[in-house]
Amino acid sequence: MKSKKIFLGEFQKNQAGAIYQKHRIFASFMGHKKLIKFQAIDGYPNVLQYPKDVKGKWNEVFKNHNPITLELACGKGEYSVNLGREHKDLNYIGVDIKGNRIYTGAKTALNENLQNVAFLRAQIGQITSYFDPGEVSEIWIIFPDPFLKKGKEKNRLTHPRFLHQYQQLLKPGSRINLKTDSKELYEFTLETISGQECSLHENIADVYGQGKASGPLAIQTFYEKMHLEEGRTIYFLSFSLPSKGITMPERFARHEQTIDRG
Ligand SMILES: C[S@@+](CC[C@H](N)C(=O)[O-])C[C@H]1O[C@@H](n2cnc3c(N)ncnc32)[C@H](O)[C@@H]1O
Repeated sequence: MKSKKIFLGEFQKNQAGAIYQKHRIFASFMGHKKLIKFQAIDGYPNVLQYPKDVKGKWNEVFKNHNPITLELACGKGEYSVNLGREHKDLNYIGVDIKGNRIYTGAKTALNENLQNVAFLRAQIGQITSYFDPGEVSEIWIIFPDPFLKKGKEKNRLTHPRFLHQYQQLLKPGSRINLKTDSKELYEFTLETISGQECSLHENIADVYGQGKASGPLAIQTFYEKMHLEEGRTIYFLSFSLPSKGITMPERFARHEQTIDRG
């Protein structure tokens, strides 16, 4: 009996050790893969990481004066790459904080010699540091984190404090496009659009159900594919900001000074 106990104990110890070792190898493999991607983008000419002197100079980066579209929270940059392939006379910049995600889009753009596609690694909360007023002609926000927890609305990329920032870099009348699987974010954005007197151009409550997945809306990102596999509804809104300044609704006013650096 005693020996059996010892045997079981050792067996458990060995098995736990093996599992631990497997996780450790997996973790270090993942870390190694990430490291390789971070090192790669350091040398990519189409990735600018927290650049200090690019504001007002994107025409020098692209070597032309073509209109600039931003893809915010771009992840792997599927929108920038796909739209860049289609519209060579427009420039696209994917913006994300995660270098290992940007890597995927940047590598594709380099391999295909897409001179009109670049990536900016930066905090979206700091976006006005990177663009002059009127330097941007359109914004796509694709499956951004919906920040559903109470008190976290201020981090939503369609919150008035972000719209206020976008207003400082967009040409008047430019479109902001939001694609999301979050009903809460969709409804929150609709409410914000109405409260800020924005112009609503398109409101699609079910992109696939209403047969609207064509043109740019047919592009599927990494997150969209996951959401579709789960059978989630996809929402789309396209709107432009008013000429008057964006105001902070009373219920958000106390959050105005605090910015989460996610
Ligand atoms: C849910 S993922 C969506 C990625 C991609 N658009 C897609 O559909 O596959 C959200 C992305 O937003 C980025 N992100 C979140 N907050 C950010 C911030 N404040 N500044 C820059 N990127 C941010 C994350 O790094 C992440 O890649």
